[in-house]
Amino acid sequence: MASPPLQLAATPLLLLLLVVVVPGARSSRVFSVVDYGAVGDGSHYDTAAIQAAVDACEAAGGGRVLLPAPGNYLTATVHLRSRVVLEVAPGARLLGGTRQADYPPESRRWYVVLAENTTGAGVTGGGEINGQGEAFVVTPSEVKNIMVSWNATGDCLGDECRPRLVGFIDSKDVKIHDITLNQPAYWCLHLVRCDNTVIRNVSIFGDFNSPNNDGIDIEDSNNTVITDCHIDTGDDAICPKSSTGPVYNLTATNCWIRTKSCAIKFGSASYFNFNKLLFDNITIDSHRGLGMQIRDGGNVSDVVFSNIKMSTRYYHPLWWGRAEPIYITTCPRHPDSKEGTISDIRFINISSVSENGVFLAGSKHGLLQNLKFKNVDLTYKRWTNYTGGLYDYRPGCEKMVKHKTGGMMLEHISGLEIDNVRMRWARGSLKGWDVNPILFRPSTIDKLSFHDWRSVDVQ
Ligand SMILES: *[C@@H]1O[C@H](CO)[C@@H](O)[C@H](O)[C@H]1NC(C)=O
Ligand SMILES: *[C@@H]1O[C@H](CO)[C@@H](O)[C@H](O)[C@H]1NC(C)=O
Ligand SMILES: *[C@@H]1O[C@H](CO)[C@@H](O)[C@H](O)[C@H]1NC(C)=O
Ligand SMILES: *[C@@H]1O[C@H](CO)[C@@H](O)[C@H](O)[C@H]1NC(C)=O
Ligand SMILES: *[C@@H]1O[C@H](CO)[C@@H](O)[C@H](O)[C@H]1NC(C)=O
Ligand SMILES: *[C@@H]1O[C@H](CO)[C@@H](O)[C@H](O)[C@H]1NC(C)=O
Ligand SMILES: *[C@@H]1O[C@H](CO)[C@@H](O)[C@H](O)[C@H]1NC(C)=O
Ligand SMILES: *[C@@H]1O[C@H](CO)[C@@H](O)[C@H](O)[C@H]1NC(C)=O
Ligand SMILES: *[C@@H]1O[C@H](CO)[C@@H](O)[C@H](O)[C@H]1NC(C)=O
Repeated sequence: MASPPLQLAATPLLLLLLVVVVPGARSSRVFSVVDYGAVGDGSHYDTAAIQAAVDACEAAGGGRVLLPAPGNYLTATVHLRSRVVLEVAPGARLLGGTRQADYPPESRRWYVVLAENTTGAGVTGGGEINGQGEAFVVTPSEVKNIMVSWNATGDCLGDECRPRLVGFIDSKDVKIHDITLNQPAYWCLHLVRCDNTVIRNVSIFGDFNSPNNDGIDIEDSNNTVITDCHIDTGDDAICPKSSTGPVYNLTATNCWIRTKSCAIKFGSASYFNFNKLLFDNITIDSHRGLGMQIRDGGNVSDVVFSNIKMSTRYYHPLWWGRAEPIYITTCPRHPDSKEGTISDIRFINISSVSENGVFLAGSKHGLLQNLKFKNVDLTYKRWTNYTGGLYDYRPGCEKMVKHKTGGMMLEHISGLEIDNVRMRWARGSLKGWDVNPILFRPSTIDKLSFHDWRSVDVQ
């Protein structure tokens, strides 16, 4: 029942962490935006000065564009260029504009900082890039803020028509490090079809009550290293997606995450494959912990989650998630969607305190294959007043299904290995729960193996 492909896969991934070559500053030439006329008073737009400094830097063969402190540099979209590193000094802030006219006409290009088709561009400097997300809140609410919509053309709909903060599209050798990304109006840091990206020591702060304040979205991109990051936000924190191409070789290590949604989420856009991903040494305080929402026919394989500590609790059901520490699902989004499989997934050295059980559900033609749990410690405890008792298949599929809660729910699985797994029940807090350790639909399960599995009561 061992899964050798996975074992082999984990080694190169760890090596990747060490051998990714960080493109050094090819030129140390510094272009201060102040020399190009930036005022930095927070109310006058410095767009032209910042862009002129970026373009001069590019023309000189690359270097750094400095936003010196003190200063609040208000801007419309800044277009980064190849070999240009935007350096926001400690104490300086780049402020995104809050008018629709501050952004390009097409919503897919709405970012405060946007790099397209670049090589060797980056963002750093110890300062802050701020999306002024609060200006996009129409009605504040402790449950979930209502946000403005900039739908003008119909190419984005509902409340999802807002600018993102920092985007790298079709770019190579991207480096984002030592920077704070604050208050995005929508997604925060977005990679699209990028190759060879390093994201290191980045702090992300989104409004805890604003929807779609994702931390890092890694879309259709290969060879991404995320490390030493701090993400505190309302929506999904680290979120690989596949819309126009696959995601290969992603590692995220040494991070701290708090979110009202899912801490690490695959999907739900999942049209292409996800292969060789590693998440190691991560501390999580969230609604849902480790999640996969595979809905569109892409297959996931060779994924390791290791050395993860988490606490997962219920929040208002307007937020996706049902307090599951681990939520691995694949099912067709619509009746005519393709069904993707999820295989060779390893959970090792994981501990959680959670208000709900582990949920592992494949679908008839999209099985979960070769899942392994090793050294996993799951504590079940209730401490909020939200109602449990629902299985959550959203988006699409069977939506919400009323059901008894168990320690692990299993369906449509071929190959599950349990090795040194503890389930700990804080029975006093679990009134109304059916505390069955394992619930499964036997006709859909094949190749189960239990070794050193215990279910015990705790205080
Ligand atoms: C993934 O990383 C491995 C090295 O660990 C490399 O050989 C492979 O080419 C990478 N895949 C892609 C698609 O870049
Ligand atoms: C990026 O490259 C693509 C393909 O070469 C091209 O169609 C697109 O216009 C380029 N975009 C920018 C902003 O340079
Ligand atoms: C978005 O804008 C388009 C074009 O103006 C319009 O047809 C559509 O009804 C709008 N949708 C929403 C949800 O506002
Ligand atoms: C991380 O970045 C912050 C600025 O955002 C900086 O003050 C700090 O020194 C950096 N930490 C390390 C270890 O480089
Ligand atoms: C990622 O690697 C896959 C497999 O080699 C390739 O098909 C895809 O185009 C690559 N994506 C990028 C953005 O380089
Ligand atoms: C784990 O990550 C934390 C930061 O979140 C770091 O301080 C610690 O050194 C890391 N541990 C290991 C073993 O790398
Ligand atoms: C997923 O795997 C199935 C079965 O091997 C295959 O038919 C399908 O093309 C794969 N999906 C993608 C996006 O490659
Ligand atoms: C899991 O934890 C054990 C004991 O602390 C350690 O020896 C082992 O290296 C860890 N495994 C991984 C994959 O980190
Ligand atoms: C749960 O409800 C009880 C009774 O209504 C109340 O006293 C308690 O403060 C609530 N706890 C939380 C965490 O909201």
